[in-house]
Amino acid sequence: MSDTMTDDASRRDFLYIATGAAGLVATGAAVWPLVDQMNPSADVLALATVEVDVSAVEAGTQITVKWRGKPVFIRHRTEHEIEAARAVDVGSLPDGDARNANLPAGSPATDADRAASEDGQWLVMMGVCTHLGCVPIGNASGDFGGWFCPCHGSHYDTAGRIRKGPAPRNLPIPEIAVNGTTITLIEEYKA
Ligand code: FES
Repeated sequence: MSDTMTDDASRRDFLYIATGAAGLVATGAAVWPLVDQMNPSADVLALATVEVDVSAVEAGTQITVKWRGKPVFIRHRTEHEIEAARAVDVGSLPDGDARNANLPAGSPATDADRAASEDGQWLVMMGVCTHLGCVPIGNASGDFGGWFCPCHGSHYDTAGRIRKGPAPRNLPIPEIAVNGTTITLIEEYKA
């Protein structure tokens, strides 16, 4: 666990910043205002893939990685979060599409089609509300224990699926590769 994580135990949503075109996200937190100065040019960003070491991310916490100018949530879900997500009837969801770049378009929004790993522990999503683009709050927030967007009151569940409020779609899942505790962000979800 990094010093930052130890020093600020109340803040469970940690921010990491990808600084290179194809780099490993360093441990050690940085702040959003630095991003503009540190970012490579837009054409380099367009090619960027980023490897993230998630070995220090404990169950029940998440990190936020700045990738191509947008936040990406990487959450290590608890058993309770996984069970809650899997208990949902997909037919009852406002958006029944998995919105997962790793699967064929139109795949159902089951938890298995949303999770980044077969055991369901990892969930990787763009941290951009599908209503008007605010960054939802994590840390088991909202009426469904997932994410809550305070801008206009959208509630996402523990699989990042919209459940209540004005947001029309589930939080999109980018193309990723998972190798043990290394998650590589490859390509954004394109609707
Ligand atoms: S931008 Fe999230 S609810 Fe409107």
